[in-house]
Amino acid sequence: MKLVIVSLASLASMVMAQNATGTSSSMFPSASPAWLSDVVPLQGNAQSYPTGPVPTGPFSGTINLTGYPTTWATPPTNSPQVQNAINAINWGLVPNSTVRSASSNGNLNFGGYDSANDPDCWWSATTCTSPKHQGVPTDIVNCPIPGTWGLTYDDGPLTSDGGQYAEPNLYDFLANNGNQKADLFYIGSNVITAPLAAQRALADGHTLCVHTWSHPPMTTKQNAEVVAEFYWTLHAIKEVTGVTPKCWRPPYGDVDDRVRAIAAQMGMQTIIWDEDTDDWNMPGSGGGNLPPSTVDGYFEGWIQARQNGTDNVSGHIVLEHELNNATVTMAEKWLPQIQKVFRVVPVSQCHNVTHPYWETAFTYPTDANPNPNTTASGTPSASSSKPSSSSSASTTTSAASTLTVSSALIVGLLALSATLF
Ligand SMILES: *[C@@H]1O[C@H](CO)[C@@H](O)[C@H](O)[C@H]1NC(C)=O
Ligand SMILES: *[C@@H]1O[C@H](CO)[C@@H](O)[C@H](O)[C@H]1NC(C)=O
Ligand SMILES: *[C@@H]1O[C@H](CO)[C@@H](O)[C@H](O)[C@H]1NC(C)=O
Ligand SMILES: *[C@@H]1O[C@H](CO)[C@@H](O)[C@H](O)[C@H]1NC(C)=O
Ligand SMILES: *[C@@H]1O[C@H](CO)[C@@H](O)[C@H](O)[C@H]1NC(C)=O
Ligand SMILES: *[C@@H]1O[C@H](CO)[C@@H](O)[C@H](O)[C@H]1NC(C)=O
Ligand SMILES: *[C@@H]1O[C@H](CO)[C@@H](O)[C@H](O)[C@H]1NC(C)=O
Ligand SMILES: *[C@@H]1O[C@H](CO)[C@@H](O)[C@H](O)[C@H]1NC(C)=O
Repeated sequence: MKLVIVSLASLASMVMAQNATGTSSSMFPSASPAWLSDVVPLQGNAQSYPTGPVPTGPFSGTINLTGYPTTWATPPTNSPQVQNAINAINWGLVPNSTVRSASSNGNLNFGGYDSANDPDCWWSATTCTSPKHQGVPTDIVNCPIPGTWGLTYDDGPLTSDGGQYAEPNLYDFLANNGNQKADLFYIGSNVITAPLAAQRALADGHTLCVHTWSHPPMTTKQNAEVVAEFYWTLHAIKEVTGVTPKCWRPPYGDVDDRVRAIAAQMGMQTIIWDEDTDDWNMPGSGGGNLPPSTVDGYFEGWIQARQNGTDNVSGHIVLEHELNNATVTMAEKWLPQIQKVFRVVPVSQCHNVTHPYWETAFTYPTDANPNPNTTASGTPSASSSKPSSSSSASTTTSAASTLTVSSALIVGLLALSATLF
């Protein structure tokens, strides 16, 4: 009962703060991050969720991006952009959890951490997903309805290093197999290396989320470095595609309340998983030595458990990767079989998230509203070339969509108490 009251109170403050000037006591912001307002999206992107057939096939064109930090390294924290983002955070709401360390082989050091009490809800130590610190949003870990498969792929977009398995290989496969949609957790360094793939993913109706700039274990990063990892990924996705994600997934699942709180204040809900294919560990570029037959066995077990009636408590969010030839091959091998047994949807759908981006022209289908009226935001081809008419159209859209966001949040908050995505 107490939880519900708290939720309604924070909901009330959030709804009241659904205007540009409003402030909210919630850690989760109520408006698009101001520190991204200077990022100008490239031309030619999809302007709304696709309601019909989606583009497939080879990419055309080239994109020249400038001004980014070095790829695959934690960006500098002293740039004006990162400093602006740091200064926008209320650090009084960010837990003072110890910054963790890792050994040279990348293994986290758990020495000295009180895992029994897990004061920082450190996933790597305990798989904790319900924060211990007040006000930090709870992670999303599954799709609630039994028989639902939340389809997610990490580490993309798969750049030309992937050879014939580079995008649009997987995106074409999804489009050609029931116009399947997925959540894609993007590495910023890959977004600027394969920007045409990111644009295609948006046009194809996938949900773009953040997976950091350089894929570090985030609990080993200082506060300012955490901000820099998030900032440049959001910057890259916004410049390349025009949207600003409200979801992220920690590399290796490595998150604690400190990192969760920074993510929330930067506008992102933490999304974990409850079923792990371990596909990244198969032989392939950046992979390991796990026999593919082991991964096959996981898929077979999940299908069997659903078919024999024992998988009846909740749906799932399943961790897969668009990392290399091996993971893409595995994903494409199993998707058609999964689709026969499960209702396969992106996480935004099973959590009734109408607007997974701050740009509310993109209205995604949800379990609560599987066929949203798309007239207000128009079809991609209907997006106006005249700035004046397109801006008046988007004003109408955001006014109408505020109501939709609020009712989706009511449903979500009642069900999940502190989940704000
Ligand atoms: C915006 O929301 C705040 C409350 O957060 C309220 O005080 C203010 O009047 C609102 N402004 C407008 C223009 O609605
Ligand atoms: C990319 O753009 C920058 C700045 O406009 C320019 O200096 C550079 O030559 C361009 N690079 C390529 C490969 O076109
Ligand atoms: C962290 O420490 C700072 C400085 O002592 C303090 O202002 C802040 O409130 C602390 N944060 C939390 C969440 O306790
Ligand atoms: C159902 O399938 C799962 C996964 O293979 C298995 O572990 C479980 O024993 C099966 N239960 C029954 C009742 O068949
Ligand atoms: C759900 O599965 C459990 C076994 O895991 C079984 O005991 C129970 O009867 C099942 N419930 C339904 C409604 O099928
Ligand atoms: C992927 O490439 C690696 C070599 O980089 C090779 O050993 C492996 O067999 C390939 N896997 C698939 C599924 O093509
Ligand atoms: C989404 O909406 C559907 C239909 O109203 C409802 O059954 C389901 O519980 C909702 N899911 C969540 C996560 O709130
Ligand atoms: C969408 O809603 C508007 C206004 O309610 C209505 O006029 C229009 O026919 C609807 N379009 C579709 C495709 O349902």
